[in-house]
Amino acid sequence: MKNAIIIFCVFALVGFGGGYLFSQSGSQEQATAPDNAATEQTTQDPEQEEKVDAPAPTAVTAEGEIFQQKGCIACHSIENLGVKGGVTGPDLSKAYVNVEGKHGKPINEFLKQPTSAVMSTVIGGNPLTDDEINKIVESLKIASEK
Ligand code: HEC
Repeated sequence: MKNAIIIFCVFALVGFGGGYLFSQSGSQEQATAPDNAATEQTTQDPEQEEKVDAPAPTAVTAEGEIFQQKGCIACHSIENLGVKGGVTGPDLSKAYVNVEGKHGKPINEFLKQPTSAVMSTVIGGNPLTDDEINKIVESLKIASEK
């Protein structure tokens, strides 16, 4: 019986020890594998960055860009900025001077909390940051002066 226990212990030690050594050599092989993967990745990365860095093709003027970015042109044109968009909403060329009379609040307030039906839904679902509102108001001011 004692022999059996000793044999078991020897096998267990050899088993664990061997397993340990095996896993060591295995992890060394694994350690070199990610290195290769890493170099492969670094060779791929510059290509991906180039794609991101490349300026998105845009047909609109600098002032019109924000309306494209925020999806406004799905419903609005701003003819004075050369922006041709959807016809669901009115042309915004004169919005800078019109909005207060039409909607009862200055344009920057209107863009924060529109009083009209469709724009309430548009802004409610996707609010504009102060920065974006400033850009939009600035662009609409330029449009209204053209
Ligand atoms: C889903 C269509 C839609 C989108 C998208 C949209 N609008 Fe409008 N917008 C309208 C409609 C329709 C009106 C007319 C008033 C109303 O019904 O809300 C309007 C009115 C306006 C007005 C008041 C102009 C006026 O003469 O009454 C301004 C300013 C305006 N939108 C700016 C924007 C800006 C800036 C964006 C982008 C962040 C935008 N809109 C996105 C549909 C849209």
